[in-house]
Amino acid sequence: MPDLTLPGLIDVHTHLRVPGGEHKETFATGTAAALAGGVTMVLAMPNTNPPLTTPEALAIARRAGAADARCDVGLFAGAAPADVAHLPALAEGAAALKIYLNDTFGRLRVDDLPTLVACFTTWPRHKLIALHAEQQSVAVAIGLAATYGRPVHFCHVSRREEIELIADAKGRGLPVTCEVTPHHLFLTEADAARLGALGDMRPLLGTADDVAALWAHLNDTVDCIATDHAPHTLAEKGSANPPPGVPGLETSLPLMLSAVQDGRVTVERLTALMHDNPRRIYDLPAQPETWVEVEMTPYEIPDAGWQTKCGWTPFAGLTAGGRVARVVLRGEVAYDNGAVLAAPGAGMLLPVHPTF
Ligand code: DOR
Ligand code: ZN
Ligand code: ZN
Repeated sequence: MPDLTLPGLIDVHTHLRVPGGEHKETFATGTAAALAGGVTMVLAMPNTNPPLTTPEALAIARRAGAADARCDVGLFAGAAPADVAHLPALAEGAAALKIYLNDTFGRLRVDDLPTLVACFTTWPRHKLIALHAEQQSVAVAIGLAATYGRPVHFCHVSRREEIELIADAKGRGLPVTCEVTPHHLFLTEADAARLGALGDMRPLLGTADDVAALWAHLNDTVDCIATDHAPHTLAEKGSANPPPGVPGLETSLPLMLSAVQDGRVTVERLTALMHDNPRRIYDLPAQPETWVEVEMTPYEIPDAGWQTKCGWTPFAGLTAGGRVARVVLRGEVAYDNGAVLAAPGAGMLLPVHPTF
């Protein structure tokens, strides 16, 4: 008997790097990492090369995903000023739209108002708009949500002032939701100094006060835990110009289980943050006969032995509260005590749409 049985977890923020970044991750390796972390459905970001801002690029990613994914995958379409005319067509093959309001890895970025207005007026209303928004960009996106009367989802909220603004917006009944990452909950700027490039990502790691604010809002304002799994190779991280981003799929649940062990979050709340809310917010399909068996024995997170192609973690040495023993996806054992059993192609590509 497992100590704990959870529904298959949903991670709404991953970078699986196809097309163009296959040396960092692929659908096969990224979804193997997902299963090892108890995650049976992921949404993957569009800052690929080329980015997923045209139907042609999205079709390439969809074909690769359908062939290689071991768990279910939905793709974000990306917003780019030159490609806004494609938004309605892109929506058919995408789970949601991602808009980058601040600089990060890759070139996808929107900083002109006409493009933002085009996103909010032409992206189909039944699909969500998610944003990489930092500092005052959070206020810009709340203003757009209020003006156009449609929901927005904030990715990886990391600062006290941001989570407090989102709490106030929610308090006024505005349609906003948000996620936080395990790295912004378990690491601070002091870890960034210790880790160097391996602790560099966007948004940056926060102060101890930022981290305290995220924990204080975990039981009300925060809707989802999402990893922002952003693999880069160790060679790239050791280069003169290291790209920002850290992997997280395999350590997210184990780290959050340490918060369960500490009494900082209940299993019921964790299930809401890692399954129920992600599913509701993105209107994702149910996965029948799908569950995760967990062993609640604390251990120290190792620095090797990962399924992700990048092969490292910024969390080595931290205490995990439990580990994934077994994952069952649609009645088939997909992961069993360290072995990924689901084959490439076992995952479904969402949305399943005949004309795309
Ligand atoms: O650190 C990050 N890396 N933040 C992002 O928003 C993008 C990501 C990546 O793609 O590597
Ligand atoms: Zn981001
Ligand atoms: Zn990201």
